[in-house]
Amino acid sequence: MYDVVIIGGGPGGYASALYAHNFGLSVALVEKERVGGTCLLRGCIPAKTWLQAAEVFTTVSHAGDFGVVVDPPSFDWGVALERKNSIVEGLVNGLSGLLKLRKVDIIDGFGRLDGPGKVVVTTDEGETTLEGRNVIVATGSVPRSIPNYDFDGSQIVSSDHALNWTERPNRVGIIGAGAIGCEFASLLADLGADVHVFELMDQVVPGSDAKAASQLQKLLKRRGVKFHLGASVGEPEITADGVIVPLGANRVEVDVVLVAVGRAPLSENIGLDTTKVETERGYLHVDPDTQETAEPGVYAVGDIVAGVPQLAHAGFAEAIAAITHIATGETAPVNYQAIPLVVYTHPEMAEVGYTEAKAAELGIETETYDHSFIGVGRAQIIGQNQGLVKIVVQKDGPIIGASVVGPQAGEMIHELMYAVGWEALPAEAAAFVHAHPTLSEAVGETLLASSGRGLH
Ligand code: NAI
Repeated sequence: MYDVVIIGGGPGGYASALYAHNFGLSVALVEKERVGGTCLLRGCIPAKTWLQAAEVFTTVSHAGDFGVVVDPPSFDWGVALERKNSIVEGLVNGLSGLLKLRKVDIIDGFGRLDGPGKVVVTTDEGETTLEGRNVIVATGSVPRSIPNYDFDGSQIVSSDHALNWTERPNRVGIIGAGAIGCEFASLLADLGADVHVFELMDQVVPGSDAKAASQLQKLLKRRGVKFHLGASVGEPEITADGVIVPLGANRVEVDVVLVAVGRAPLSENIGLDTTKVETERGYLHVDPDTQETAEPGVYAVGDIVAGVPQLAHAGFAEAIAAITHIATGETAPVNYQAIPLVVYTHPEMAEVGYTEAKAAELGIETETYDHSFIGVGRAQIIGQNQGLVKIVVQKDGPIIGASVVGPQAGEMIHELMYAVGWEALPAEAAAFVHAHPTLSEAVGETLLASSGRGLH
């Protein structure tokens, strides 16, 4: 009998297993593939490795601006693919080693609940049943498609396929301008592909701040990405040369279509019907204080949880909440309001807390302040002075949200994460001095402006 049996070895599942060590809990982790999940095997890590390769290529291509004379660079796709694979391999091996060190039993196979406290694991050799005082469901998600665009792995693909392309496609159509769509648009355009993005809504990264999103769109457009917003794509026509994507009266011909319209929960055949777990369109409902489902002793974390962002780091936090409750009975609820979202485009876009529009929707009166990177010395030095910092302040109250578009936005957002999480008043946050010359000065300037006393 284990203290915890975990189904799924992605960020939610493996973080639960690792964190359980703090309380001396015995843990079995059931995984049908390799540990790492979407994040390590088919998501964050491989995608950011590709984006880094594209960024290095862009930097070298512009080396002449800095007086560094190089022959026109070329891009060896195979080497970049190999580097991506080896980084993934290294991290998966490291994670497996760490889990073993923490005495986690990794069980290879497909796990399904057989009533609360029982997990049946199907392996090549047959079935075994594990018993646990608690079970954590962390089965994650898979790319979903739209009607007429079923994945065939060659002409209609998901991000899973695109991360393993063995050569660069010349013409790419991307359906969906969310995080995945924009990241692929950025890296493919940087590597010289002709990229069209078709987005149903009227802004990129829907749900993000409109001004930040329009900046990001402008900067990606400047690098060659063609955006079709408010676009409803018709039934594709597969030809000998590629795929024709109908768009109203127009037809856009590409070599391959990458569908990036969101992800679907992976909760079929995992025995939820043998429990009192409540679901909604395949996602599991949990008590937000504890991550426990309606079935006592059965918890859920990660992408499979209903109504929360599908982010690896949200999964880590949910794992901590679940294990804390299992081990101590205490609660450690996730503060989603202060979880940053980073889109790793070039430049990056990062957000935390409420956008201006979301606050308005909730009836919160706000004031907003922004500061461009244009005049920031460090941004000019690195040759990337496009973008802005924007903060949303509750009228006569604390900072409740922030967006950054620009170089290192994904790093810079974290000081604003503390401001939002600690409900800092603008004057309190503005009282701290940022080092000069840094990119973070753009945050400092925005805070000074929000406290009523701008400097530059
Ligand atoms: P998403 O939900 O972020 O974006 C999907 C986009 O597709 C939306 O903009 C939506 O309006 C659009 N769309 C939906 N149906 C469409 C249609 N028929 N035609 C045109 N556009 C359509 O999903 P995405 O980008 O696939 O990412 C999946 C999940 O993974 C998200 O939860 C995302 O936050 C997460 N993720 C996070 C990353 C990060 O934090 N950097 C990176 C990659 C993914």
